[in-house]
This record gives sequence, structure tokens and C-alpha cells, in this order.
Amino acid sequence: MFNRHTWLATKKKECYGQGIMQKNNIMVTGGAGFIGANFILKCLNERPHWNIVNLDALTYAGNPGNFLELAPDLAARHSLVHGNICDARLLDSLFTRTPFDAVIHFAAETHVDRSIGDPLGFAATNVMGACTLLEAVKKYWERRGCHEDFRFIHVSTDEVFGSLGSEGLFSESSPYDPSSPYSASKAASDHFVRAYFRTYGLPCIVSNCSNNYGPYQFPEKLIPLLILRIMEEKPLPIYGDGQNVRDWLYVADHCQALLNILDKGSPGQTYTIGGGQELSNLEVVTALCDLMDSRLNRTRARASKRLITLVKDRPGHDRRYAMDASKIRNELGWTPAHSFAQGLEATVDWYLSHQVWVDQVRSGEYHKWEKVHYKS
Ligand code: NAD
Ligand code: DAU
Repeated sequence: MFNRHTWLATKKKECYGQGIMQKNNIMVTGGAGFIGANFILKCLNERPHWNIVNLDALTYAGNPGNFLELAPDLAARHSLVHGNICDARLLDSLFTRTPFDAVIHFAAETHVDRSIGDPLGFAATNVMGACTLLEAVKKYWERRGCHEDFRFIHVSTDEVFGSLGSEGLFSESSPYDPSSPYSASKAASDHFVRAYFRTYGLPCIVSNCSNNYGPYQFPEKLIPLLILRIMEEKPLPIYGDGQNVRDWLYVADHCQALLNILDKGSPGQTYTIGGGQELSNLEVVTALCDLMDSRLNRTRARASKRLITLVKDRPGHDRRYAMDASKIRNELGWTPAHSFAQGLEATVDWYLSHQVWVDQVRSGEYHKWEKVHYKS
């Protein structure tokens, strides 16, 4: 006797076995930012049947220049829509025009230091924007008969769990305990996504990832900020005692984790993602100084370590983040492919070889932020 569930399960196994996901039209929000752009570039290369609509408000963190190097045949499968996730009418028109198979939601305000000065701006995008998007997606999904293969992937952060002491790891069962307006707004959006799964059955998955680094990251975040300031021989500001610890993950590995979640993850689940590479901020800045000095042939007398400067701490600064990624490893077969040393080399080499991108970014909002936040 024909059993639809067994047939579907076999079909899915066949598809996953071949690494094929039967999805063609993908909406990416916030795809002109750091992780979103890396994700889109990877997918255009690896998923030849995908058409990607990239909805991005092009805030200071969004950069259409991230797609300038795309070959024409790949660029033809990417369309950038300049718009806001808070705009319900725009969302409805996009969902009327294109039969999306999945939405990967990256769009957010993302810098903790900025959230301290602008909590309401973070609530507007990260909470109300996420809810507006969820509502538009739910309407669309219901119109299409509540298709079980549809996916809404909510890209979230380890910061929702607050701070660890010197022991232990965050996992899917860690309680929420956010410290900053940024992490509080991301926590709120995670809760809404879960509520849309439990209440309406919308096939949502939440991922909570640790600190990413790599190409195209806006230089307000620690690693690219330090790279640019080492280039210019400016002071390297390290908050507090420099002993805060982050679990660093190369961005390509995060993007691969998201693809595994999209292909094989189960609706209603959450997955914690991390590189298992814990380093204090002083260890990060020291590794970067050594690497940059070797790339720039700087002698000992000009060693960049002399620029390291301990500065006033960030209010509410979480001490340590570290992730237990065993669920995504065991259930979805994901492991990071890059060590911190490999990822850092690739990142430094990318920034050194993309001077035009760096100059363009440096001339705008970055310059203003540097002046206001670092006074130099
Ligand atoms: P980013 O700041 O580099 O990019 C954010 C993008 O969202 C930008 O292109 C911006 O223009 C766009 N955007 C902002 N507000 C918008 C709005 N209202 N409507 C439409 N687009 C809007 O951020 P990122 O580092 O690439 O982070 C992407 C996502 O991943 C975020 O949700 C973030 O919370 C999450 N995350 C980031 C990290 C990390 O280390 N960077 C780690 C874990 C999770
Ligand atoms: O953990 C995931 C999160 O990682 C993401 O959700 C956020 O969007 C992303 O911004 C990042 O948050 P952090 O606050 O950890 O990243 P940031 O690069 O701002 O800082 C990393 C560490 O470096 C943190 O302990 C603060 C410290 N720092 C940062 C800056 C910008 C400094 O010491 N000096 C600095 O100038």
C-alpha cells in the first residue's frame, strides 16, 4: 500500500544522499552584510539551480559592492532588493511575485557597542522587523497550503545565553540570559520564531552561532577593526583586561552549517554552532599582530604588539562564550573545516588583497564610528 510518509522520507533521503535540496527560490534577508554575503556567494557557486532574492535595507553594514566580483552567470541568479524587513507591504509584494521555498533570515542590527547607544533601533529591526517578516511568511505559507518542505531559518547568536564562567559550554538547552540590548533583541526574535512554529506550525529552525570572522566583515567588529588599525599603525583598543573569551568560527564554516540545517534540519529544532576555538581577546590581537607583521615585513622595532592598548571596558561585557556543537555535528554531519590559524590567514590575506573594498568602507560610516567611539 502507498504510504505518503514513507515515500517522502525515501525521496528526501535520496535527495540528501546526493547533496541536492529540492528548493529553487530562496529569500535571503540582510544578504548584503557580512555573513549573508558570504552565504549568497557560496550558494550561487554550489547550488546552480538556486535563484536568490536578497532583501536588504543597505544600512551602513550592507554593501552591494560585496557582489562586484560575481561572474555574470552567477550574478544573473541574484537580485538585490533595496528594502526593509519592517515594510509589510513590500514583503507581501515579494511573496506574491515569487514562490519562495525558503527564507534565510540574517537581517539585523548586529554591533553590541552600537546597541548600547541605540536600544530602540535594535528593537525596531531585530524584534519588530523579525515579527513583520514572520507574519508575511506565515500568510504566504498558508496561501501555499502549509507546504511541509518550506523552511524559515532564523540566524541567531550565542549571545542570547549571556555569559559563561571559566567552565562549561552553551548548548541548545541553555537558558536565555541576554546582557546587551543587541542580545536581548535577538533573544526576543528567537522566542517569536519558536512561537510561530508552536502556534501556527510554520516550519522554522533557529541557529545560535558563536563569533564569526572572515572576508566582507564590517570593520567595527574586533578582527577587521584590528586588521585595518594595524595597517595604519593606530592604537589597538582592547576592552577591560583583555581576558574576555570568544569561540571563533570562520564564516565559511558557519555558512556550511546553515546549508546543513536547511537541507537536513528538522522544523522546531534549534542548533548551536561554534568553532570550538576559544581565545581571549589578548590572544586574538597577539596572533593578528604577528601574522600582519609577517605579511607586511615589519621589523621587530616596528612590531605591531607595541600598539596594543587596554581601554575602558564595554558596559555589560560578557566574559566568555563557548559552544557545544555536538547536536549539529552528530545529527547533521557538520564540522568546521578551518582552524583559527587557517581562517585568520585567509581573512588577513583577503583584507590585504581587497584594498578597493577596504578604502570604500573606510571612507564612509566606519570613519565616523571610529572617530566617535575610539576618538582616533
Ligand atoms: P551585518 O551587520 O554585517 O549585516 C546585517 C545586514 O542586515 C546588513 O546588510 C544590513 O543592511 C541589513 N539590515 C539591517 N537592518 C535591516 C532591515 N531593517 N531590513 C533589511 N535589512 C537590514 O551582520 P552579520 O554579522 O552578517 O550578521 C548576520 C546575522 O547573523 C545577524 O542576524 C546576526 O545577529 C547573526 N549572527 C552574527 C554573528 C557574527 O559573529 N557576526 C554570529 C552569530 C549570529
Ligand atoms: O557571538 C556572536 C556575536 O559576535 C554576534 O552575535 C554579534 O553580531 C557580533 O558582533 C559578535 O559580538 P561580539 O561583541 O562578541 O563581537 P565584537 O567583535 O564586537 O567583540 C569581540 C570581543 O572583542 C568582545 O569581547 C569585545 C572585544 N572588543 C571589541 C571591539 C570592537 C575589544 O576589546 N575592542 C574593540 O574595539
